[in-house]
Amino acid sequence: MSSVRPLSLAVFVGTRGRGSNLFALHEAIQSGRLAANIVAVVGTRADAPAIERAQAAGLPTLIVDPKALGDDYGSALLSALKDAGADTIALAGFLRRVPSRIIQAFGQRIVNIHPSLLPLFGGKGMYGEHVHRAAIEYGVKVSGCTVHFVDEAYDTGPIIAQRTVPVLEGDTAETLAARILPLEHALLAESLQLLAEGRLTLDGRVVRIHVPDVSPM
Ligand code: GRF
Repeated sequence: MSSVRPLSLAVFVGTRGRGSNLFALHEAIQSGRLAANIVAVVGTRADAPAIERAQAAGLPTLIVDPKALGDDYGSALLSALKDAGADTIALAGFLRRVPSRIIQAFGQRIVNIHPSLLPLFGGKGMYGEHVHRAAIEYGVKVSGCTVHFVDEAYDTGPIIAQRTVPVLEGDTAETLAARILPLEHALLAESLQLLAEGRLTLDGRVVRIHVPDVSPM
């Protein structure tokens, strides 16, 4: 039987996001649904709304500015994460490519939440309303969200879990986003809990989810 090893979690947020996924994780931890401790909320700018909300909530924040650091960004980020004691990273609205050295150091301990059913509507520039508008314009009848391991490209890593919603007649990017967002919150916490329980393994690019042994009565 696999045992739960609480995650020391660094949550990476973007410059524009509200931080709703961050706070969904925080709530999942506080309510005992996710075995983790947020050791750092990582951003690139101190004035990002998600960073300001994190600070107001008393969460530890870490600003590593790629513009100021240039080529040293990856190594500065890695040493800041080590200092914070992070062993797992959740990307929650972080739009930059994760530096290679972070991916090499963390391996299958970095996950991202994306607001579509990957591999549809992913890739560079596909975030927020761009994703939902593309889904509506394409005419898909279902959309949803995906949690996946992070590799060196955008949105291409092995898929851990997905949830679907219908796309309804008259949907706008806003209404579709609002239908998907609560599922993102649940899926990200559930996927990280699977990681904490040691239940995820990779078979090529297929993520296997182990079902715990049920002891005989
Ligand atoms: C979410 O839609 C997430 O899927 C995407 O960026 C958005 C961030 O929203 N990667 P929030 O800042 O967590 O509210």
